[in-house]
Amino acid sequence: MKEYLEKNEWSIIERGFDPKKHMISESIFSIGNGHMGQRANFEETYTGDTLQGSYMAGVYYPDKTRVGWWKNGYPESFAKVLNSTNWIGLSIIIDGEELDLNKVKVTEFVRELNMKEGYLQRTFSAELDNGKLLKVKSTRFVSIVDKEIGAIKYEITPINFSGELEVTSFLDGDVKNVDANYDEKFWNPIHHAVNENRATVTVQTKKLNYQFCSTMETQITQDGQMLNLAGTAKEKEKYAGVLYQIPITKEKTTTIYKYVANVTNRDHAEDQLQMVSANELEKAVSKGFDTLKEEQAAAWKAKWLNSDIVIEGDVAAQQGIRFNIFQLNQTYSGEDARLNIGPKGFTGEKYGGSTYWDTEAYCLPFYLATAEESISRNLLIYRYNHLEKAKENARKLGFEKGALYPMVTMNGEESHNEWEITFEEIHRNGAIAYAIYNYVNYTGDERYLGEYGIEVLVEIARFWEERVNYVAKKDAYMMLGVTGPNEYENNVHNNWYTNRIASWTMQYTQEVLEYLKKTDLELYQKWVNKLGLRDEEVDKWTDIIEKMYYPEDKELGVFLQQDGFLDKELIPVDQLDEKHLPLNQNWSWDRILRSCFIKQADVLQGLYFLNHEFDMETKKRNFDFYEPMTVHESSLSPCVHAILACELGYKEKAYEMYLRTARLDLDNYNNDTEDGCHTTSMAGTWMAVVEGFGGFKIANDELILRPFIPGQWKSFSFKVLFRGARLKVIVDQEKVTVKNETDISLTIVVYDKKVELQGNEAITIAN
Ligand code: BGC
Repeated sequence: MKEYLEKNEWSIIERGFDPKKHMISESIFSIGNGHMGQRANFEETYTGDTLQGSYMAGVYYPDKTRVGWWKNGYPESFAKVLNSTNWIGLSIIIDGEELDLNKVKVTEFVRELNMKEGYLQRTFSAELDNGKLLKVKSTRFVSIVDKEIGAIKYEITPINFSGELEVTSFLDGDVKNVDANYDEKFWNPIHHAVNENRATVTVQTKKLNYQFCSTMETQITQDGQMLNLAGTAKEKEKYAGVLYQIPITKEKTTTIYKYVANVTNRDHAEDQLQMVSANELEKAVSKGFDTLKEEQAAAWKAKWLNSDIVIEGDVAAQQGIRFNIFQLNQTYSGEDARLNIGPKGFTGEKYGGSTYWDTEAYCLPFYLATAEESISRNLLIYRYNHLEKAKENARKLGFEKGALYPMVTMNGEESHNEWEITFEEIHRNGAIAYAIYNYVNYTGDERYLGEYGIEVLVEIARFWEERVNYVAKKDAYMMLGVTGPNEYENNVHNNWYTNRIASWTMQYTQEVLEYLKKTDLELYQKWVNKLGLRDEEVDKWTDIIEKMYYPEDKELGVFLQQDGFLDKELIPVDQLDEKHLPLNQNWSWDRILRSCFIKQADVLQGLYFLNHEFDMETKKRNFDFYEPMTVHESSLSPCVHAILACELGYKEKAYEMYLRTARLDLDNYNNDTEDGCHTTSMAGTWMAVVEGFGGFKIANDELILRPFIPGQWKSFSFKVLFRGARLKVIVDQEKVTVKNETDISLTIVVYDKKVELQGNEAITIAN
């Protein structure tokens, strides 16, 4: 697709309105605050193609499962993020003609997502059928300060006429999800009311009884003067609005302010919802739009202070990485451990808004390095809180002990219903254990292990213990019938990555048990008792660790993705005619399964996670073997390849891999951005810059850097928070500068050399 967004360092800008690109833009220009999110739908009526999306984090619907062939063990429902009450709606009628960008002539259309200050703005001129010309400017945001507040400023200026404007400012809870298994609506009406300039609508999900209450106030000014208008109430089921009729004068601007408080019974008592939303609204209205917007800018400034990446000499790259960081910060803010990060964030319905292994495997490093500790800790607590459900899930599938976390979830229960993923993609359990290691390794918060971590680790280790089978003839433990991260192979035996991460989990669990025993015997004993942990179990893990079978080819010196991988016809992707790519759109599933082509990092995912366990030669042989056969048809894949390529000194490859996701959505690289953005893969892009080009990692309580700069860039810099300090790392073609922006001194390792970095000091090293 032709690039259509203007390159700009701090904004995403679309000039000219093209209805064919509107749904893509609706995704890209989405706004969110971790609590709620809103696609860039127009405030006014739009009868062209659109995907309406107002999402409230954690409010979901268990849509009854629909499958062709039922298999025992499938979940009864698929949890979906809900398209909720449309709170942005403004119907605009000028002298009897409705403003609808699908019907009027639109010129000078500019849409801007201001990432620096966190708002969406749109300006355009419209010529109505009756020849009337008007200019419109709308600005809106969801506040990252007052999480339940959304605010809109909508300005209309007639250019060649004076006449009458009819505005209906409304809340509409009669909305649908496009992705509904049985094409039903998910919301029931509860209450609606209009009181002068205020209106309120409460709706409730047909299952689970989530209540969503929106309350709005509309204010209208002309020439900066508030109009004292008596509106007309417009009410119907699940809908409340106020209609205003306003004389408008040529060249004079009428401004409509709409303030909305969206609250749910997830956060407040059900019988208080209307009162809470009215109170929140009151606070927002008394601050006023400009103050709310200033507070928004200040809060975003603080976010950027910790998380910005600056790339000099490449505006496209700069815009791409800032967009990714912006979307990640819009999606998850970490105060609420019941929430998580859906693969599309708040930008679409696809993937149900649910939690995948993406969180632990790809997103956690971003939040570890750019936000306070409690935020990544909450991502771990989320899984801790789902432990009982994960145990139930394992029982449901016939395991006597242990926990199997779901592949896709909202509330801890499995939501996914494709057997090869639901039942077989069990490697996800390993990522959840790995995240505990990653968190503790990064933060040094070892208390977490004794408070929560150990329980999760033991239950996952137990699952692996039961899932492997001992093959006496080979005196080895095997794991049969799995799907590895590479979903282009199903029901394989001994997926190297799964076997390795399983065995690693058991080993790490043993280490944590030893650590607890040594440091706090009482606590250790408490857990042994609570978990009913027996010595024989731990010994069994040792036996499995020692005798786990790992497919490998000694001659090639590579780990085999699974048994039989070498029996495939091994062809590099670059020998395929372009017309076959992407395979998932051009080949039958059967053909994909039989081929050697790899959807996403699999063996290499293991080399990334357990990087310290393998020498350079091993990493190099495996990278050289697998990279040419990898089609990267999951956007989660290139980042891992980029990081390894950096480590191996494959600079061009690293940059090529980085580019594949850096602007994935901005350039609609996969032709699917209209469904929503690839939010979790954005964290992968961040990893590619910081862990790849920056060579950033934490090992043995030390912060390690080994930066290299792509030839295409003049310089790049990133920020990381580490043990209370904030460092800014600036890399140009000659040198690396590390600035300590805090008072906390620390020792870091740059290109294998230890350097003492005092508080507020900067050091420079040639690269
Ligand atoms: C990938 C999975 C991922 C999911 C959600 C799939 O295409 O293969 O690894 O968890 O997308 O992002």
